[in-house]
Parts: sequence; C-alpha cells; structure tokens
Amino acid sequence: MLQEQQIIIGESPTFLEIIEQTSRAAGHDRPVLVIGERGTGKELIASRLHFLSPRWEQNFIQVNCAALPDTLLESELFGHEAGSFTGATGKRIGRFEEANGGTLFLDEIASTSLAAQEKILRVTEYGTFQRVGSNRTRDTDVRLIGATNIDLPSAADAGDFRHDLLDRLALDVITLPPLRERRGDIILLAFHFGQKIANERHWESFPGFSEDMIEKLMAYPWPGNIRELKNVVERAVYYADHEYEPINRVIIDPFKSPYRPKPAESKQIKQVSAREPDAPQTSLGPGDFNSRVDQFEKELLLDALKSNKYNQKRAAKYLNLNYHQFRHQLKKHGLKSA
Ligand SMILES: Nc1ncnc2c1ncn2[C@@H]1O[C@H](COP(=O)(O)OP(=O)(O)OP(=O)(O)O)[C@@H](O)[C@H]1O
Ligand SMILES: [Mg+2]
Repeated sequence: MLQEQQIIIGESPTFLEIIEQTSRAAGHDRPVLVIGERGTGKELIASRLHFLSPRWEQNFIQVNCAALPDTLLESELFGHEAGSFTGATGKRIGRFEEANGGTLFLDEIASTSLAAQEKILRVTEYGTFQRVGSNRTRDTDVRLIGATNIDLPSAADAGDFRHDLLDRLALDVITLPPLRERRGDIILLAFHFGQKIANERHWESFPGFSEDMIEKLMAYPWPGNIRELKNVVERAVYYADHEYEPINRVIIDPFKSPYRPKPAESKQIKQVSAREPDAPQTSLGPGDFNSRVDQFEKELLLDALKSNKYNQKRAAKYLNLNYHQFRHQLKKHGLKSA
C-alpha cells in the first residue's frame, strides 16, 4: 500500500537533529523505537522512516496495539487458522505476513501483553512466527517500528515490558521533543496549518495572525503538542470572519465554560443535594446516555489515580483492571500522561 507522505514542518535545531537521525535510521533496516508525548508526530516519523527506506515501495502496515484486547491483537499480528478460537470462522493472514518485504509500525507498543511481546521478539530476531492455532512455522521479512509515549525502561523494570524485546528495539531510539521544547517552531507550524485551512476556505491568501494571538500561541505550554496546536489554529481560521485581516481570535481550550461538568463525582452530588434537599443522592439527571457514561468512566479513572498517588499500576488494581486495560482507558479519555 503506497501512501502519500505528509509534509513535516520544523526548523528548530532540536527538531532538525531528529529529522537527521530519522534519515540515518531509515537506511539501516533494523528495528526503531519512536518515543514522544502525545501529538508530537510519532506517526509522521514512523512513516518517514518507511518511505525513506529501501522498503518504500513495499507495504507500510500500521497497527494500534492499544485498540485490541490481547487475544485479538495476537491474531491481528500473526493471523489465525480457522476455528483456532471462538468466532474464528475462516483463516486470517496476520499483519506480520501482510507486511512481508515492507515495514510494520506497532503504535502504542507498550500496550501489548508479555505473551505477544515474546512472539514479536522472535519474529524480529529470527523472522519466524506461527499463526494462532497452527504449529507451522512461517517466515516473514519485516522491518519493525514501535512507538509509545511511556518510558519503556521503567515499564521493563516494573515487569510490564520484556527487557529482551526492549534491548532488541532499542537499537535505534528516536525521542521526539515536545512542542514547548521547540518554541521556535510554534509560529511556523501555526502558519502551515493556517494556510491549509485558508486554502480549504478558498481564501485568496492567508492573512497571518495578530501580534496578540502570536503572543498567546507562544506563551501556551501545548500539552497536546502539535495536534493541539493544529486544532487550535484550525478552529481560529474557521471562526475568522474576514480573510484580509490577521487572525485575532483564538480559543485554546474549547471546553472552557461556566457550565463545564466538574471532574469529581462527589462534588456533583453535593451540589445537587444543596440545591434540592429531596433530590436522589446521585449525580444523575437528564443528559445524553453516552456522554454521561463517558464522564462517569473518566471520573472513576481520575479518582483511582488520585487515591493511588498517581501510581498507574496501583490505580489499575484499585479498579480491578489489568495495567493494559487501564492504560487503554486513560488513552481513550485523553488522560494518558507522557
Ligand atoms: N513536524 C510536523 N509538521 C507538520 N505536522 C505535524 C508535525 N508533527 C506532527 N504533525 C501533525 O500533528 C498531528 C499529530 O501527529 P501524530 O499523529 O504523528 O502524533 P503522535 O505522536 O502519533 O500522537 P499520539 O501519541 O497521540 O498518537 C498530525 O495531524 C500530524 O500530521
Ligand atoms: Mg500516534
């Protein structure tokens, strides 16, 4: 599958070093790990590694390891034979087979189970694997790229990631700087995204940003990094009324509102009972079912984290979830830390 390569913007020395390292790594055909906070461009770098490599005309296959439960992930990666587990009606070719000759990008690689990690190690070291439910050893020639936003050496020390796989993947580690560490690129990126939207809006040209807005963009710490900046700029350009005046209005936090729901459930209960003495002792009331469930899940996660001094392993146990399920929930609710 040949994909269009996206433009990568950046001129700061830290960023240029990363681009250079990426170009060097693209050639050596060994595994590469891409590490970075959310929204720092890990996917972009992974695809650059593929498209600059001698494998560029072959498949570039991406799998988000956090999106599937352990058993399904193994069958996704390695394939399965018909009837190998309940629901496996036909045989299925796995991603390692599909990527033969090309590159397999395992995003959120830290979410894989230890059992899957062992198989990943074997396939990257010896190029061999077995489909789920089959004893036949098959060969594949795949270049592996893994990405994560967690600190893998600590995960390995905590027993959540195999040291041997880490050693194998650590052959080349590309760590992307957060946007706050490359402030020189903020305005460059903002112009790039602004121009794109101006184009979509069929503006003659992009009028740029007011000084006030530039100051705001420069002062903000961008915890969501480039993705967050992109969204803020897109919002600003879409909301702008005139195509000839520099963009002056920016909403950095779209959730900001006096009516924003409070994070702690207990606070909501107190507020309801203070207003209405006979009100039931819950935070329930009219509202959309899915968004309420979503909110409740988020509160559970925050409460578990807080009650366990932000130790994620203990917080997972507190909720009777395994660590991977807990991390997946954090990610789903945008709570995953860097
Ligand atoms: N240097 C860059 N130039 C232009 N666009 C970029 C750059 N880096 C990231 N982006 C854009 O920012 C967004 C987020 O990038 P990407 O999906 O690669 O981040 P990520 O590190 O994989 O994030 P996550 O951990 O949340 O999956 C994408 O829309 C991407 O195109
Ligand atoms: Mg990503």
